Amino acid sequence: MKKIKQNKILIIHGPNLHLLGKREPKLYGKFTLKEINEELEKFAKLNKIPIEIFQSNSEGDIVERITKNNYNFLIINPAAYTHTSVAIRDSILAVDKPTIEVHLSNIYKREEFRKTSLINDVVIGTISGLGQWSYFLALEASIAFLNKKRCRK
Ligand code: DQA
Repeated sequence: MKKIKQNKILIIHGPNLHLLGKREPKLYGKFTLKEINEELEKFAKLNKIPIEIFQSNSEGDIVERITKNNYNFLIINPAAYTHTSVAIRDSILAVDKPTIEVHLSNIYKREEFRKTSLINDVVIGTISGLGQWSYFLALEASIAFLNKKRCRK
């Protein structure tokens, strides 16, 4: 019998997101990254999908992690790199894995420079402005996406 390959979801948090809870709480909410990650872990466990969570303040480390390419689905909040990083865009294109872009705040309602995302045309979709729910909804959508793909096989 053909073995079904285990699906793994990689969740990447970009620079300064380690400061969540303390950092501009009016914009980014009062939840810490640890609390958000715990909820993500719980939801993934409930759905029996392995996830790995990675936070880095360094563009190069994020590129390294994306291009390790040992996952089936990518959820990424590139934070400030959303608006500047051709390197992160290129690594997403290189691995060619289904990807959801996430933002806690609504980047389209903020300063002009934040309205440009260098990855929004290479991802399946973007969830922006729903606080911690942006991550939870992205995880729910990615699980639905992977399950649907598995059923089609
Ligand atoms: C952010 C929005 C970015 O513009 C900002 O630089 C961040 C967080 C968000 O989640 O709303 O650091 O990605």
